[in-house]
Amino acid sequence: MSADREIVDNNEREYAFTQQDFECIKKLIYQHAGISLSSSKQNMVYSRLARRVRANGLRSFKDYLSFLEKGNAEEWEAFTNALTTNLTAFFREQHHFPIFEKHLEQRKNQKKIQLWCSASSTGEEPYSMAMAVTNAFKSMTPPVHILATDLDTNVLAKAQLGIYPLDRLEKIPKEKLRQFFLKGKGHHAGLARVRPELRNMVTFRQLNLLDEVWPIRGPFDAIFCRNVMIYFDKQTQYKILKKFVPLLAPDGLLFAGHSESFQHASDLFRLREKTVYELVHK
Ligand SMILES: C[S@@+](CC[C@H](N)C(=O)[O-])C[C@H]1O[C@@H](n2cnc3c(N)ncnc32)[C@H](O)[C@@H]1O
Repeated sequence: MSADREIVDNNEREYAFTQQDFECIKKLIYQHAGISLSSSKQNMVYSRLARRVRANGLRSFKDYLSFLEKGNAEEWEAFTNALTTNLTAFFREQHHFPIFEKHLEQRKNQKKIQLWCSASSTGEEPYSMAMAVTNAFKSMTPPVHILATDLDTNVLAKAQLGIYPLDRLEKIPKEKLRQFFLKGKGHHAGLARVRPELRNMVTFRQLNLLDEVWPIRGPFDAIFCRNVMIYFDKQTQYKILKKFVPLLAPDGLLFAGHSESFQHASDLFRLREKTVYELVHK
């Protein structure tokens, strides 16, 4: 029997998981985080949430969902954290960084530069932005602030620590590694921590892109919103893009993920190059 078949077969699952349970989870995570789950995600949902059923000492998904619907705030957080996908990497979508650095260089005369990384996951993206910033400014303490937000509190805690296994840093050239990271010794061997100058450039905060009100203030010179819109339907994407408009500086840039297109929001944003967008001025 294939591993896949093993999980699919309800008889072999530790907890009963019905179509109705899946539909209920799908509705809850859509309402709460905007995440659209297709039916191909059933096994993923089972394996991620079975841990929560177990952790709460419950006997079925039905019991878990009743517990969740009573509104336990801690469990809502764990439920959300379990259903987000946090895949990321340093200098992901490498082609964005020269464009980003050039954009920063053109703004060197500005007193203060504000940047927003709106789905920062475990921190690799905002720290890559910070490395690009120091490169553009030729300074470890440039007049730049990066706000990094995510919905998932687990990834934010990791990002805040700024400690990574060395194999996550393989794509970073040696001289950059020395410039931006401190290698762990003794029982920290195999790990590296981002240098304080880089860490100090970034503020991490929880923010749900689905919330009606975002407690943040622009204007941002660039917004990174990469590989998160793919989890949202077009209607949700449009709502978010509309809220980016007043937060982006008039000549600011919006960076999207490689498989994301904002063509359906062509009244708001125009493609400048390779998944980099600029505002449409009316
Ligand atoms: C696949 S990761 C992408 C990380 C990074 N931007 C990159 O491109 O490497 C998607 C991130 O979006 C976050 N996310 C999902 N739904 C969200 C929402 N409604 N508001 C804010 N962040 C959300 C997840 O927690 C996850 O960390």
